[in-house]
Amino acid sequence: MPVSTDFNDRALSLGLARVSEAAAIACAPLIGRGNEKAADQAAVDAMRRQLNKLDIAGVVVIGEGERDEAPMLFIGEEVGTGNGPGVDIALDPLEGTTLTAKDMPNALAVIAMGPRGSMLHAPDVYMDKLAIGPGYAAGVVTLDMSPSERVAALAAAKGCDATGIMVCVLERPRHEQIIEEIRSTGAAIRLITDGDVAGVMHCAEPTKTGVDMYMGSGGAPEGVLAAAALKCMGGQILGRLTFRNDDERGRAAKAGITDFDRVYTRDEMVTEDVIFAATGVTDGNLVPGIKREVGFITAETILMRSKTGSVRRMQYRNPVG
Ligand code: FBP
Repeated sequence: MPVSTDFNDRALSLGLARVSEAAAIACAPLIGRGNEKAADQAAVDAMRRQLNKLDIAGVVVIGEGERDEAPMLFIGEEVGTGNGPGVDIALDPLEGTTLTAKDMPNALAVIAMGPRGSMLHAPDVYMDKLAIGPGYAAGVVTLDMSPSERVAALAAAKGCDATGIMVCVLERPRHEQIIEEIRSTGAAIRLITDGDVAGVMHCAEPTKTGVDMYMGSGGAPEGVLAAAALKCMGGQILGRLTFRNDDERGRAAKAGITDFDRVYTRDEMVTEDVIFAATGVTDGNLVPGIKREVGFITAETILMRSKTGSVRRMQYRNPVG
């Protein structure tokens, strides 16, 4: 049967929320148990099961890795019943495996869906990322600016001085210099130990989260997921792939990338309308985590569509046996 190009994002969105919900709920018994692998596996299995119930002809573009290293939800895997529109899927069944294993904040089950061919095939390498929330002129901050220039430019655009800016950064030795330079401006830093999809999303709701800007390097696949989120919530993200060796350059070439220095904007990472769903696994600033009480489980999902800019927060409560 020919694959349809009709991407009815409205009709598909609730199904997508069920997919992230299922992954997050499957992790519930593993929150705080110190077992990253088991939590990730539970999320992958549940996400795949639920995804395969959707009437889509989906292809995983951002997934758990290459076919030989990821038995399920590998890049290129076909998902869905096959009876429906051809779509690209970007997913991270458990974004924050360590956060989950240690019961630390902001672990999410995340998935995005767009028409076939609409998402950057980002290889599993690092990406240098820079993100800000909505309401700023395009290009107010750029990857070519130094961290202190970015803080100064954003502060001027926000109408405050550097002390009024909060930057979110992954706490890693590779970011020591960035952190030092940001601190020297007087700006504040929210250090996170993992989970930069949530870190970027925080920029889109600064009054709620206190975060104005995200910078630093993290996974490139997570960069595409974050771009999908900001396309729905508003805000800008820029990303440039970074390579540590020829093997990583080879991965990029295999994914079809020819310009290794290219800076991707949000709309170049996700080129058409997208639906994005994230369900809280552990409590976070944007969405609460899974709650278990005797006989019931509750999950909260943020479900968004870029076409309309709609953001739904949905609570799902279900009896458990
Ligand atoms: P996992 O959930 O796969 O463990 O990834 C978490 C994460 O923190 C991402 O959010 C981030 O992009 C990446 O790892 C950073 O990679 P590294 O830990 O190598 O700095």
